[in-house]
Amino acid sequence: MPLRSVVLGCGAYLPRRIVTNEELATRVDTTDEWIVQRTGIKQRHVAAEGEFTSDLALAAARDAVAHAGIGVDEIDLVIVATATPDNTFPATATRVQHKLGMARGFAFDVQAVCSGFVYALGVADNFIKSGQVKTAVVIGAETFSRILDWTDRQTCVLFGDGAGAVVLRGEEASERGILSTHLHSDGDNYDLLYVDGGPSSTGTVGHLRMEGRKVFVHAVQRLAEVVEEALSAQQLTARDIDWLVPHQANKRIIDGVGKKLGLDAAHVVVTVDRHANTSAASIPLALAEAVHDGRIKRGELVLLEAMGGGFTWGSALIRW
Ligand code: UT7
Repeated sequence: MPLRSVVLGCGAYLPRRIVTNEELATRVDTTDEWIVQRTGIKQRHVAAEGEFTSDLALAAARDAVAHAGIGVDEIDLVIVATATPDNTFPATATRVQHKLGMARGFAFDVQAVCSGFVYALGVADNFIKSGQVKTAVVIGAETFSRILDWTDRQTCVLFGDGAGAVVLRGEEASERGILSTHLHSDGDNYDLLYVDGGPSSTGTVGHLRMEGRKVFVHAVQRLAEVVEEALSAQQLTARDIDWLVPHQANKRIIDGVGKKLGLDAAHVVVTVDRHANTSAASIPLALAEAVHDGRIKRGELVLLEAMGGGFTWGSALIRW
């Protein structure tokens, strides 16, 4: 049995303020019916003024560390997957490291937008498997409300703020843990989902821009491929999967992947109705919910998948 990164605990944090579709319909030309029908989204959480990505990340990390039952002195590595850092630099993860009370270890951000959590999990898993790190906290945290064009109905209805986290620990000869991660990107479609600002291009923060229909088509294709890749790498079939925990962008995409795998809808974790698309935070938020409410149990096979701007896409297969 190999050295594996075992998930010791999960955590989550959602800002208090909830914005419903009805409230959005008072600001832009949209309806609750359109949003629910096209996306499955009913509401989203929005960070308060002065509440930063690092605050969300810290709350989720503390929750995960408490659930894992470890001390902060045991943590070697903190990774924050985010496309909405507090500042252009330094990494939001260093602020989280400090506020957690860590006096050692190292921390950095990973930027792969909606695939960020799966990327960060892959990075942490490799640090653990190489023996350089024993215990890692992997966080997905976003405040997309800060980069939305609130006059653009095609994008502002789709996203929300939040954070989720997991604690990983390297364990020898373990049947449990991350079995594999598969990461991909293709910059050919950079302009289909991007932010029209940045420190090196415009000197502004910019707003999210997306050609939704084109992204949708790519998402369905890429996610089907990466799920297939994960299963065949482990010589498993769709029947072996106990839980699909997908990136939460659109209920129609989630249903499509679930159907392709032949999974009963009851075994697909869905939070998009309440959280909307929280980018890198969506998978760890969904994981935390399904673990804390007792759905995902020890020993079960959990498949994560995500696709986002870049494009980036990837999967992780975990024996819980
Ligand atoms: O997380 C990263 C990955 N991102 C994704 O996976 C997102 C992928 N894309 C999607 O989820 C969907 O494409 C959307 C939800 C963004 C859009 O759904 P769609 O079924 O592809 O709609 P559409 O963009 O083709 O727009 C259909 C119509 C258009 O009107 P016309 O041209 O048919 O008259 C839009 O102008 O719906 C209109 N529309 C809206 N109407 C009411 C677009 N946004 C809205 C809105 N309210 N908020």
